[in-house]
Amino acid sequence: MRILLAGAAGQVALSLVEAGRARGVDLVALGRPDLDLTRESDVVRVVADVKPDVVINAAAFTAVDLAESEPEAAHLLNATAAGWLAREAARVDAPILHVSTDYVFDGAKPAPYLEDDVVRPLGVYGASKLAGELAVAAANPRHVIARTAWVYSPFGKNFVRTMLHLASDREELAVVADQIGNPTYAPHIAEALLVIASQCTKPDVGTRWGVFHLVAPDEATWADLAEATFAESGARGGACARVRRITAAEYPTLARRPQNSRLDASKLQRIYGVRLPPWREGVTACVSRIIAEA
Ligand SMILES: NC(=O)c1ccc[n+]([C@@H]2O[C@H](COP(=O)([O-])OP(=O)(O)OC[C@H]3O[C@@H](n4cnc5c(N)ncnc54)[C@H](OP(=O)(O)O)[C@@H]3O)[C@@H](O)[C@H]2O)c1
Repeated sequence: MRILLAGAAGQVALSLVEAGRARGVDLVALGRPDLDLTRESDVVRVVADVKPDVVINAAAFTAVDLAESEPEAAHLLNATAAGWLAREAARVDAPILHVSTDYVFDGAKPAPYLEDDVVRPLGVYGASKLAGELAVAAANPRHVIARTAWVYSPFGKNFVRTMLHLASDREELAVVADQIGNPTYAPHIAEALLVIASQCTKPDVGTRWGVFHLVAPDEATWADLAEATFAESGARGGACARVRRITAAEYPTLARRPQNSRLDASKLQRIYGVRLPPWREGVTACVSRIIAEA
């Protein structure tokens, strides 16, 4: 099985490259400049050249606040280009695994979101990702749209790395404690996507396609995640700080975020037999690796 991975340097993409290498998967990971998804001709050429059995899209415009002032750029990559990639995958008879987000929801539900709950993004990023879900589904009937959330990893820009960086010269950090979600470790997402990829190339039974929630099974606030990060780091002699719990209203951002980001991931377990480890296991793995590699 050959996988074409769109995106090579992001958190999920790098985790997929590592997981693929460890499992001996034939995975062709291409990012800019070799595959700029916003150039339709790149998408057409690369998919035809690589002839993948499965395509995974892990590239996105992920700067949630910047998207508010750059809606065209967010929409081009997250929606239009995602649709092109799904269409070209269909042309070579490959299913597409497309990564999406909890930000398609408004956060008003007082319980974890199910896949078919009403979507109502609060900002441009969420709206562009929702448009991407629809474009992918319309362009390729053999699609898995995997909504994940609160992604962190040893790579790139993410909450855990930011907390460790800030704690290197501050004793106390104010962290939002009234937004709740499922912190999800990118290498856990990668392992799950490889399982899904291997199963969705088997003969089609129909139920494999659609939207799935792909997150850690348990929940936390940002303040909980910060405290767990510092507990792991402190235990290893790394940076740690006290966490002062604040409200989202005390930490205004350009884009509004959902108060409740919790996603119910039981459908993924039912259909694909995949259940991610609890989020604290991801934090332990992430922080120990960051400290070991520092
Ligand atoms: N991060 C989160 O907390 C979070 C939460 C929910 C869902 N998600 C979703 O999870 C997926 C992966 O997110 P992530 O955190 O791994 O993202 P990330 O680390 O921000 O990486 C995004 C990647 O997209 C690539 N990219 C940008 N423009 C491109 C273009 N025109 N053509 C090709 N590649 C391009 C970037 O490449 P360059 O290196 O060239 O810029 C970068 O490698 C995304 O679909 C995102 O929406 C993320």
